[in-house]
Amino acid sequence: MSENPQTVPHQDAAPLTFSFLTLFPELLAPFADEAIVGKARGRGLVDVNLVNLRDFAGNRHQKVDDTPYGGGAGMVIRVDVAERALASLPAADEVILFSPAGERFTQAVAEDLATRRHLVFLCGRYEGFDARTEGLVTRELSIGDFVMMGGEAAAACVLEAVARLVPGVIGDPQSHQADSFSSGLLDYPEFTRPPEWQGHSVPDVLRGGNHGAVATWRREQALARTLARRPDLLRSAPLTPADTATLSSLGATPEQLSDWGAPPDPPPRRQKRRRTPPSVPDASDT
Ligand SMILES: C[S@@+](CC[C@H](N)C(=O)[O-])C[C@H]1O[C@@H](n2cnc3c(N)ncnc32)[C@H](O)[C@@H]1O
Repeated sequence: MSENPQTVPHQDAAPLTFSFLTLFPELLAPFADEAIVGKARGRGLVDVNLVNLRDFAGNRHQKVDDTPYGGGAGMVIRVDVAERALASLPAADEVILFSPAGERFTQAVAEDLATRRHLVFLCGRYEGFDARTEGLVTRELSIGDFVMMGGEAAAACVLEAVARLVPGVIGDPQSHQADSFSSGLLDYPEFTRPPEWQGHSVPDVLRGGNHGAVATWRREQALARTLARRPDLLRSAPLTPADTATLSSLGATPEQLSDWGAPPDPPPRRQKRRRTPPSVPDASDT
């Protein structure tokens, strides 16, 4: 995989290489070859290395798993197989084991991983890896509180989330600053043509050409969505006094606002008092 004929080395920096250790490399190949990741590989911004764990089985039958000590259902992937596969790779900044018991994968973790040069992903199957594999990795990641059949889909999620943060992969670097979670809030709703569809119109403000009004509307929409769907995010979102005013107009209580550490609402602007003009002496007074 790393011998992608399209790969042209990026002139400014080494590509971020993703090495996947898996029993099903063919499941991951489309994520590596197609769409934005495929193009980024062609431009030398990222590289993908698919490694079949069976190549390190160390036996004629390429058997990588065995029955669990203590009995019970299922099979467990051997630690010595994982160890040999890892030893075949160049040094990595992070070796990540996918497991439902891992740390929750978030945008903040993706941003951290995007700063590395070589990430290795260990994708489990069956009952997972022998627990001693944990000693070979730098971190364990879970993509949510559910159990899948294997780690490949989890690894593909992480590839998709991290690769798009590598500088140059996405054309407009500002495009992910407003993304859900990057700004601390959920993203605002987006619209495109047609302006009218089945009785639903695009909001007038987005068609008015007033960039300031569009920015204000988008911030309010992001706050409204986050308040309605993921109020937990507001606890760590950077909020301005204007956001506090928006959130309280949307029904957030003073207790919630103080729980989220929202800055105080800006005091209402004082009306400038009109000075009474000095009375013009009446001509008749003189
Ligand atoms: C059937 S699961 C093993 C589940 C394990 N017995 C447990 O309950 O924690 C097989 C493999 O799928 C992957 N996997 C399943 N769910 C996952 C999740 N939510 N996040 C990350 N990896 C997951 C892991 O690599 C795991 O080793």
